[in-house]
Amino acid sequence: MGETIRFLLDGQAQAVRGVDPTRTLLEHLRGDLRRTGTKEGCAEGDCGSCTVLVGEPDGEGVAWRAVNSCIQFLPMLHGKALITVESLARDGALHPVQQAMVDKHGSQCGFCTPGIVMSLYGKAVGASGTDAPPAEVLAGNLCRCTGYGPIIEVAKAIEAEPAPEVDFSVVSDETMLDLSHDDPVQGVTRRWLAPRSLDQLAQAFAEHPDATIVAGATDVGLWVTKLRKPLETLIDIGQVAELKAIEPVEGGVRIGAGVRYVDAMETLSGLYPELGAMMRRLGSTQVRNSGTIGGNIANGSPIGDMPPALIAAGATLVLNHGGERREMPLEAFFIDYGKQNRKPGEFVEAVIAPAPRPDLIFKVFKLSKRFDQDISAVCGAFALTLDGGVVTSARIAFGGMAGTPKRASACEAALVGQAWSEATVEAAMAALDADYTPLSDMRASAAYRALTARNMLRKVFIETTSPGVVARVEPESAAQETLNG
Ligand code: FAD
Ligand code: FES
Ligand code: FES
Repeated sequence: MGETIRFLLDGQAQAVRGVDPTRTLLEHLRGDLRRTGTKEGCAEGDCGSCTVLVGEPDGEGVAWRAVNSCIQFLPMLHGKALITVESLARDGALHPVQQAMVDKHGSQCGFCTPGIVMSLYGKAVGASGTDAPPAEVLAGNLCRCTGYGPIIEVAKAIEAEPAPEVDFSVVSDETMLDLSHDDPVQGVTRRWLAPRSLDQLAQAFAEHPDATIVAGATDVGLWVTKLRKPLETLIDIGQVAELKAIEPVEGGVRIGAGVRYVDAMETLSGLYPELGAMMRRLGSTQVRNSGTIGGNIANGSPIGDMPPALIAAGATLVLNHGGERREMPLEAFFIDYGKQNRKPGEFVEAVIAPAPRPDLIFKVFKLSKRFDQDISAVCGAFALTLDGGVVTSARIAFGGMAGTPKRASACEAALVGQAWSEATVEAAMAALDADYTPLSDMRASAAYRALTARNMLRKVFIETTSPGVVARVEPESAAQETLNG
């Protein structure tokens, strides 16, 4: 049992043995099961042609979420349920979502169509993260030929109809529970460890400090599909319940490292509405349904979107090594490019986001070439307090401006104690030159990054002093632009 991956496909139990644990779900579907409706476009989570729905026990029922099967490792499916595009048509009749795609001319070459159908089916049945406008739900599904107009029409038609029943009632609660209490899978050709508790995880990682932790695999999946990295031992943290908890703590909220973006958005939006708005642009529905807050921090990327905002908010990171915990301000975790303040065998357990003071000015700006589903060139976050027109505190952090997410200490110093005026802001904008020496790369030139960072601070000033002036692109107009374009 320990070496068997068990899941439900269309409600039928599947048992897979002797498989390389880094085999992707997409490879299994297409190569082993010959379910070739699910397509491989990019194999890196960008195009959505491989979208499938994965279900997990959720209280009384099953919670479905759309994921990119190309970057999910097969053992991550253990104890879960799966629906692919082949699951939808019944008795020779297309599902209403598929029929609408035909009726509204939502498909041309058809390569993207299975993924789009699955995303729209997910929306129709209320899958996780689909309570959003169609353009947002579909931001992770690229179509090179139809154009998005007809596809959005399909989405609207489906919205207007009552959601069709999820007719996978064979996925009974009982069966799901049986599976979810099954033994965790252990790797065969490589070592795949799936601890079920924080203690087990702490022990496993302390014993195998060279192991690769797998959370949502939206980064690690690409190391396999694109970089062909030979990963010998992997530790799947997806079954550690403690890491998925979001709980109030004194002065704020503690978010477990394994909490997915989609599950953190409501809490974080409640505390910091601008952070919530930015998260809607982080990856796509599929990426937010898999990727975790802990993974975004632990990977140490200089262009990860969560760290700048959480640093500006004053978040604390909780690390765990063999059960011993230590805490640090989040900014102290990022030492240098590719180097984090983390011992071998130590993992990220949680991040604590403080509740903001009622008068806190909190702004986040994400600059990327595309509005949706694009990595930031620069991401800036600003937390300021004013008293009588004077800046009393400033926490400012940027991604994309250095080898790590980094606070703008010179800029902060130029603001604190000064009148919140154009002259102060201009001086603080100039001080950013002392904080950062950005690089030029495919996303932006150094000069553009430096100018953008300055202008983000100017936008904060404009938005706080001239509320009538629109200083940024609004999501609605961006979606409209996508449709028009
Ligand atoms: P994984 O891929 O599982 O792991 C990432 C790294 O962190 C690995 O080194 C892993 O070993 C380590 N790790 C994970 N959890 C822990 C832990 N608890 N303790 C210690 N180490 C740990 N990112 C953005 O910031 N903004 C974007 O707009 C964005 N868009 C994306 C779009 C696409 C199509 C894709 C594929 C990715 C995108 N990403 C983006 C990157 C990615 O989604 C994030 O970095 C994500 O948060 C990683 O989380 P994960 O759970 O998938 O981590
Ligand atoms: Fe492109 Fe999976 S194949 S997202
Ligand atoms: Fe050809 Fe979408 S119909 S890629």
